[in-house]
Amino acid sequence: MLRRLPERLLAWVGRSLRRPVLLGVALTLLVLGAGALAVTSAGLVSIAASSGHWPVTSWFLHYSMRRAVSTQSLGTEEPDDLTDPALVLKGAGHYETGCVMCHGAPGRNQSVIVEQMTPRPPYLAPRMDEWAPRELFWIVRHGIKFTAMPAWPAQQRDDEVWAVVAFLNALPDMSPQRYRRLALGKAAQNPGASETSARLSAMSDPLEPVLATCARCHGEQGEGRGLGAYPSLAGQKPAYLLASLRAYASGERASGIMQPIAAGLEDETMRQLADHYAEQPAVARLVAANGSMKPANGAIARGRVLAIRGSREHKIPSCVQCHGPSEIEHNRMYPLLAGQYPDYLALQLRLFAAGERGGTDYADLMHSATRRLTEQQIRDLAAFYAALAPTDEPQPGPDNPAEL
Ligand code: HEC
Ligand code: HEC
Ligand code: HEC
Repeated sequence: MLRRLPERLLAWVGRSLRRPVLLGVALTLLVLGAGALAVTSAGLVSIAASSGHWPVTSWFLHYSMRRAVSTQSLGTEEPDDLTDPALVLKGAGHYETGCVMCHGAPGRNQSVIVEQMTPRPPYLAPRMDEWAPRELFWIVRHGIKFTAMPAWPAQQRDDEVWAVVAFLNALPDMSPQRYRRLALGKAAQNPGASETSARLSAMSDPLEPVLATCARCHGEQGEGRGLGAYPSLAGQKPAYLLASLRAYASGERASGIMQPIAAGLEDETMRQLADHYAEQPAVARLVAANGSMKPANGAIARGRVLAIRGSREHKIPSCVQCHGPSEIEHNRMYPLLAGQYPDYLALQLRLFAAGERGGTDYADLMHSATRRLTEQQIRDLAAFYAALAPTDEPQPGPDNPAEL
C-alpha cells in the first residue's frame, strides 16, 4: 500500500493538471516562486535597517508575534505575588545590566544608535498594559527571533525571569527617582550616577569601577540591599567567593543575572573582588531586615534542631558539621551562612533540592543534603541561619527597605 504511494500521488497530480483552473494556479505559483528566487539570488531583497519595514510587513510581523506569544505562553503558572518588593528590586538590578541599553528607562532616554535598529526596541512603560504577566514571562525567557530581543541566558532560572516581569509590571508608575534608587542603590544619590559616569569618575583605581557595579546590587560594602533579593558577600570566605564567581562565569552555576557580570571579569579581578568582600564587616541581618522577613513562630528553634542534629529518618545530614556554628575551622569552600538573608538562603536551598544550582566542585554535597527537605524545613533552616549573628559589633546597615 505504502510502496505505491508515490505512484498514486503522481497519478493524482497528473489528473489535476488536466483541469485548466488548477493548471493555471500551479503555473502561477511556479512563476512567482521562480521570480522570488531570482530576485533573492540577484541580491535585490532589501535587508537594510535604514529602510525600515513597509507598514504591511510590520503589521504582519507584529501580528504573528502577538499570536505566537499569546498561544505559547498559555498554561504558564504565575508566582503568588508579583508586587513583592524583593522581586521588583532584583528585576530592576538586571534591567540596568541587560535591558536599559535597548529599551531605555524612566529618566533615561533610548540611545540614538538603538533608534536606528529595525525593528526598533520600544520604550516599554506605555506598552505594559498590552501584555499579561505570563506573556511578558514568555518574551523575556525566550526572546524574539529576527529582532535583537535576546533570550534569558539561564533557561532553568524561571525565578529570575519572574523578577524581571515583576519589575516590568511596576514600570508604568515608576518615577525616574524610584528607578535610580532601585537600579543603582546608594550611588543614585550622586547626581548623574550611572554605570558610565561611575566608570569615568573612578579611573584612578582599576578595581573601583567594578566595585561600583557590584555595589548597585550587593551594596557599598557587600552587605546586600536590605531585602533578600541579593546575597550579602561581606565577610564570606574568599575561596568560596572566588570559586562562585568562576562558576557563574563558566555557566556551572546558572544565573542570568550574575553570569553576564562574572563572564566579563578577568581571573585576577575576580581574585581581588573575592579578597575585598571577604574583608568587609558582616552585618547582623534580621536586626536590619524589614517585617516581611521576620520568621514564623518557632521557625528558628525548629531550624536549630534540624541544623544541629539533621534527621536520620529523612536522610538529612547535620548542616553545622559543614557550615558551623562550631569551634572547628571548616573547609574553606564551605560558605558561611550566619546572618545571610533568609529569603536568599531559602531560594538557594530550593534550587539545590531541584538540582538546578551548580557551583563549585563541592556543589554535589548540597544536592544530596537537600533532596528530601520539605518547604517548611527549608524556611526553618533559612530562619535559623539568618538569625545567627555573624559578628557582635554594630555595623552600618543596608538600604532601608521602606524607601525602595
Ligand atoms: C539588543 C537590544 C535589546 C535588548 C538588550 C533587550 N531587548 Fe527587548 N526587544 C528588543 C527588540 C528589537 C524588540 C522587538 C520589537 C518589536 O518587534 O516590536 C524587543 C521587544 C521586547 C518586548 C516586547 C515589547 C512590545 O510591546 O512589543 C519586551 C517586553 C522586552 N523586549 C523586554 C526586554 C527586557 C526585560 C530586556 C532585558 C532582560 C530586553 N527586552 C532586552 C531589543 C532588545
Ligand atoms: C544586577 C545585580 C547584580 C550585580 C550588578 C552583581 N550581582 Fe552578584 N549576585 C546577584 C544575584 C541576584 C545573586 C544570586 C544569584 C543566584 O541565585 O545564584 C548574586 C550572587 C553573587 C555571588 C554568590 C554569593 C553566594 O553566597 O553564593 C557572588 C560571589 C557575587 N554575586 C559577586 C558579585 C560581584 C563581585 C559583583 C561585581 C563584579 C556582582 N556580584 C554584581 C546580583 C548582582
Ligand atoms: C558535607 C558538607 C555540607 C553539608 C552537610 C551541608 N552543606 Fe550546605 N554547602 C556545602 C557546600 C560545599 C556549599 C557550596 C556549594 C557550591 O556553591 O559549590 C554549600 C552551600 C550551601 C548554601 C548556599 C550558600 C550561598 O551563599 O549561596 C546553603 C544555603 C546551604 N549550603 C545550606 C545548607 C543546609 C541548610 C544544610 C543542612 C541541611 C547544609 N547546607 C548541609 C556543604 C555542605
